[in-house]
Amino acid sequence: MKIFLDTANIEEIKKGVDYGVVNGVTTNPSLVSKENREFLPLIKEITSILPGPISVEVTATDAGGMVEEAKKYAEIADNVVIKVPINLQGLKVIKQLYTLGIKTNCTLIFSSSQALLAAKAGATYVSPFVGRIDDISGNGMDLVGDIIQIFDNYAIETEIIVASIRHPLHFVEAALMGADIATIPFSTLAKLLNHPLTDIGMERFLKDWQKVKK
Ligand code: G3P
Repeated sequence: MKIFLDTANIEEIKKGVDYGVVNGVTTNPSLVSKENREFLPLIKEITSILPGPISVEVTATDAGGMVEEAKKYAEIADNVVIKVPINLQGLKVIKQLYTLGIKTNCTLIFSSSQALLAAKAGATYVSPFVGRIDDISGNGMDLVGDIIQIFDNYAIETEIIVASIRHPLHFVEAALMGADIATIPFSTLAKLLNHPLTDIGMERFLKDWQKVKK
């Protein structure tokens, strides 16, 4: 399973890349707004930190406007992927960008039917938001399982990015299900690595090592 970082924070991206296991980055308008920086230079800087796919979201609400934005963002760097919301306008945009050879990440997916339509339109990635489903007493990971099965049924090549991850268990469940990608906040990446028994074990080994004749 590939790991993307779900952040627009340069420091977090650099720290995450230092782990050596990060394959890409996803941003959205809310994440970008936290950075208090000019948009295009911020995206340009992110694209230069790692070669993997960097999702950049369009904010126009009509297909024409979204395509114009997408073309502009796609020129920033070769690794830019255009994040497009799932709705009728979004489907048209995905199809158009597919014919232009521009990669897309269809976002705000909350049902398997939305995921299938996005894939049929030519989306490179679909992003089901598992945490936001759990937030309203649903089961986000069930949606991921359904999308995996549907895509397997028809050998659909669109990759599934499990998004809106809230904790390490979402990450592990995504891997058990065979999802292609998990996009996670930097705080979750740090949690994936830590285990108190590892710390205790290290402490004991180092203490016992002191007793060894050298
Ligand atoms: O990047 C989209 C998604 O991961 C957002 O997550 O936590 O705002 O639901 P969240």
